[in-house]
Amino acid sequence: MQNNSSVARVNPRLVPVNASLVPRQAPVLLDLENVSYRYSESLVLDGVNLSINSGEFVALVGVSGCGKTTLLNLIAGLFPAAGGRISVGGELIVGPRPSTGYMSARDSLMPWRRALDNVAFGLELRGVARSEREDTARAWLKQVGLEDSEGKYRSQLSQGMRQRVAFARTLAIDPDLVLLDEPFAALDAQTKETLQPKFLQLWEGSGRTVVLVTHDINEAISMADRVVVLSKGRVTHDLRVALPRPRRIGDLVDVPEFRDLRRQVREALHV
Ligand SMILES: Nc1ncnc2c1ncn2[C@@H]1O[C@H](COP(=O)(O)OP(=O)(O)OP(=O)(O)O)[C@@H](O)[C@H]1O
Ligand SMILES: [Mg+2]
Repeated sequence: MQNNSSVARVNPRLVPVNASLVPRQAPVLLDLENVSYRYSESLVLDGVNLSINSGEFVALVGVSGCGKTTLLNLIAGLFPAAGGRISVGGELIVGPRPSTGYMSARDSLMPWRRALDNVAFGLELRGVARSEREDTARAWLKQVGLEDSEGKYRSQLSQGMRQRVAFARTLAIDPDLVLLDEPFAALDAQTKETLQPKFLQLWEGSGRTVVLVTHDINEAISMADRVVVLSKGRVTHDLRVALPRPRRIGDLVDVPEFRDLRRQVREALHV
C-alpha cells in the first residue's frame, strides 16, 4: 500500500492569490514518478513514487537486495531509469548533477590523495582555484574534527576517519541534495555514536535535503523526518517522524513515539 498522502506536492499554478494565509510548505526538491529499473531479466524497481520536500531528511530502509543503492544511483544520475521520471528542483535527471552530493556505501577515497585533496576533489572538478578549494576543504575537515589529519593518505586513516573525510568531501561542494548510502554501517559503535549526532548537527539548519539509506531502524527514526520503506520494487510505507528537533539521538530510544515507530518500521520490514 502506498501512503504518500501526507506529502503535499506544490504546484505553482495552484498557489492561491493570498498565499500568505497558507502555512508555508517547502517546495518539492526530489520527485520520483513511477520509476523502474531492471538488471537484464531482473526487475529491481517497479513503479517507485516518492516526493521529498526541500530541506527534508528522509531515511530509506528495506531488506538487503531490495534496490536501495540502485535507487540512489538513479537519483544521482549515474545511469538512466528504465521507466518513469526523476526530477530534482523541477529538472529532469539525465546525468550527474553538480549540486547533488553522493556518499556511496563503499569507501571511495582516492589512496594517492591526501585527506585535504580528497575533500577538495569535487571543488577541483568544478574548476575552483587551488587556494579557495583548500580553504573550503580545511574548513570541512575541521567540522568533522580532522584538522590535524589533512596530510594523511587513506592508508594512514582509520575507518571512522575515512568516513569523516568522505562526509567532508560530500558536503564541501555545498550540495542541496545529499545522498548517503549506509554511511555509518562500517563503523564501530563508539565512532557511530559520535558521528551520527555530528552529522545531524551539521544538517540541522542547513536547508539541505537528505536521503539516507540504512539498515539501522534506530538510526533511521532518530535522524529522519520520514522513514520510507522500499519493498518488492516499490515504496510500501512512508512514516512521518514527528519527534522535535534538535534531537539527542541516544535519548530517544525510550520515548513512546519512538518505540511505536520502531514497531511500525519492523512490521513494514517483516522483521
Ligand atoms: N550490477 C548489477 N548487475 C546485476 N544485478 C545487480 C547489479 N547491482 C545490483 N544488482 C541486483 O539488484 C538488486 C538490488 O541491488 P541493490 O544493490 O540496489 O540492493 P540494496 O537494497 O542496496 O541492497 P543492500 O542493502 O544489500 O545494499 C539485487 O538483487 C542485486 O543482486
Ligand atoms: Mg545497497
